[in-house]
Amino acid sequence: VYAAMRVMLSKDDHAIVVVPNYQAAETIPLEICAVSGVSLHADKNWFLDVGEIEAAVKPNTKLVSINFPNNPTGAIIPEKSMQDLIALCRKHDLYLFSDEVYRLIETDQSSRITQAADGYEKGVSLNVCSKAYGLPGLRIGWIGCQDTELLQKLERYKHYLSICNSAPSERLAVIALKNRDKILERNRSLLKSNLAQVDDFFSEYPHLFEWTIPDGGCVGYPRFLGRGGIDNLCHSLIEEAGILLLPSSIYKSQLMATPSDRFRIGFGRKGIEAGLDAFRAFLDEKHNQL
Ligand SMILES: Cc1ncc(COP(=O)(O)O)c(C=O)c1O
Repeated sequence: VYAAMRVMLSKDDHAIVVVPNYQAAETIPLEICAVSGVSLHADKNWFLDVGEIEAAVKPNTKLVSINFPNNPTGAIIPEKSMQDLIALCRKHDLYLFSDEVYRLIETDQSSRITQAADGYEKGVSLNVCSKAYGLPGLRIGWIGCQDTELLQKLERYKHYLSICNSAPSERLAVIALKNRDKILERNRSLLKSNLAQVDDFFSEYPHLFEWTIPDGGCVGYPRFLGRGGIDNLCHSLIEEAGILLLPSSIYKSQLMATPSDRFRIGFGRKGIEAGLDAFRAFLDEKHNQL
């Protein structure tokens, strides 16, 4: 779905992208035009300073790309910041490209923010079946936008990329969306129980990890405080214990420096107990080395 940026940007344009991010959020615009990064502040619970976005705007800026709840940090900006961003984009006539794939699974549902496509005439909301709906195998996603001319261009580009989606997937996606309340309730309750277990886990190892509960989504981005570096830890974990965590080097940005002592942990699946128990056993065995 990020390929949509190929319709919205051309080589003389400039885009602003929030960092850290999902890889396509910066690699796709970087293939097309100049891109500036604006960082979420790790030391302020991933605070986004809208003033920094404004400072990055140039005469040729065309698009601002955001993703909240954010992958990998789990951060959500306050509604006030979202409204400030919309006002800023309106003032400079910019697209607000908003990746909302983790929307609807906020840790506290009251922190849900406005969908870009609802709140702004040049807002472009991206969503998929894979996250809140828990149906990644369908490979169905969509873009919402008030600008019907842009939507037509996007549709034409989509036809160029693939003639059509898998029809069975489309049928299943429609069934899922019609039953969204039931599906979301199931997934929210799974996430709530998993998150409580992840929270308990980290509270057992305060000397090794700095952990804060993510605002939303199904991933968190704690700091590793131990010895040897996070890449080594992740490597040993996958090799010796079959546990897959993503070190922050995976989230390195071409645009600016990013934290290098963190890892992404997912908690969206059933059966997290087994993973956490294996992680505990690994840490207990290695406690002299970490
Ligand atoms: C922030 C973000 N956007 C988009 C996607 C793409 O979703 P899909 O796997 O449905 O293509 C992902 C998948 O991990 C994601 O984390």
